[in-house]
Amino acid sequence: MAKFVIQKSGPLEGVVEISGAKNAVLPILAATLLSSEKCVLEGVPALKDVDIMCDIIQALGVSVNRSIEESKVEIDASVINTSRAPDHLVEKMRASMVAMGPLLARMGKAEIHLPGGCAIGDRPIELHLKGLKALGAEIDISENGLVKGKTDGLVGTDIYLDFPSVGATENIVMAACLASGTTLLENAAQEPEIVDMCNFLNKMGARIKGAGTDTIKIEGVKSLRGARHVIIPDRIEAGTFMVAAAITRGTILVKNMLPDHVKPIIAKLRECGCDIFMTPEGVVVDASDRELKSTDIKTLPYPGFPTDIQSPFMALLTTVEGHSTVIETVFENRYMHVRELNKMGADISVKDRCAIINGGRPLKGTNVLATDLRAGAAVVLAGLVAEGVTEVSQIYHIERGYENFVEKITNLGGIIKRVDD
Ligand code: UD1
Repeated sequence: MAKFVIQKSGPLEGVVEISGAKNAVLPILAATLLSSEKCVLEGVPALKDVDIMCDIIQALGVSVNRSIEESKVEIDASVINTSRAPDHLVEKMRASMVAMGPLLARMGKAEIHLPGGCAIGDRPIELHLKGLKALGAEIDISENGLVKGKTDGLVGTDIYLDFPSVGATENIVMAACLASGTTLLENAAQEPEIVDMCNFLNKMGARIKGAGTDTIKIEGVKSLRGARHVIIPDRIEAGTFMVAAAITRGTILVKNMLPDHVKPIIAKLRECGCDIFMTPEGVVVDASDRELKSTDIKTLPYPGFPTDIQSPFMALLTTVEGHSTVIETVFENRYMHVRELNKMGADISVKDRCAIINGGRPLKGTNVLATDLRAGAAVVLAGLVAEGVTEVSQIYHIERGYENFVEKITNLGGIIKRVDD
């Protein structure tokens, strides 16, 4: 199994270019199943999760032509042979479930095993299924966890989500695009990735209004055409590199990012004492030669502080003198990085959803686990400032979501190597 070996590095300095958003490209790949015409996606990052989604689509009989060099995928879903997504692929990634809505809408049938992915909580899918049922799908879950859906035709309706789930919003919007009549989805997720997916669907001929607000209106259409789309930049990758500048007390110019998508991260880094300013080339995060201050964060659905940046930010807070508090409200079990950071010498205690960081204790390199994707990013960042050598195992989690992570960090002066055990 491969691992990262990281040495204490100086301040990260230089330029990093952000890749296309993982969480946008995954539902957009699923959305291509809604049309029998060719779709072309650009800015597609080379990530394990993207590989899995491409493999799932291909296994359904769809032609997928991918160029890693050009970050481009061409999908021709004129033929779909089966509505059953392969179990061995689905169990690797929770986002596989977003193929359910498009398959039901296009084929009248979908069979997908209960999904896998990062172990950051129970992550049930009842909101996805409740929405699809409201649109007229019949859904059964067999004893071995196969979710079987079928419909003679979806019909638009009013749906209220008990929680603004990202995946449920995506599934319901995609299914509603080919339903007869109008769907009004309330308490919808407002993440930029939802907006990107809806922009893509509208290019395909869908009639969606309100994406990016809590109420999305979808007027069903008979069919969707092919479309070309460039994926938005990954705000979580951007946030991770902004935090990398802060934790190493460096200065990074982050290119190809949309500052509007990371407002809470900018606000919290400024509260810590980082200087952040916009230039025509990108966003500069300057934490050089300064004492940073402690702060408190609370994760929330967008536009609140993103849960996906909670663990990297916590790594930063361990390096700042004083007490900081983190409250995780989106996932119930997203503190697995605490054990790993504490192994490195941090002093973090957790009670229920609240973590208290007694910051400023020196971090020491040791063997740690990337317990999930973002927890992995957190220990890598901590490793860059810890005395000695940090070895990070289970890096397949990190490679699910960060394109060329080692190269990007190395280009900024970080000392990190990927080695095969
Ligand atoms: C997406 C992102 C993930 C991010 C998360 C929250 C993708 C591929 N992944 O995950 O990176 O951390 O949004 O911003 O886009 N829930 C239920 N029932 C459901 C669905 C969700 O209780 O039917 C709960 C979950 O258990 C979790 C919370 O809602 O506690 C948020 O989940 P959700 O917004 O659905 O996240 P994902 O779409 O899985």
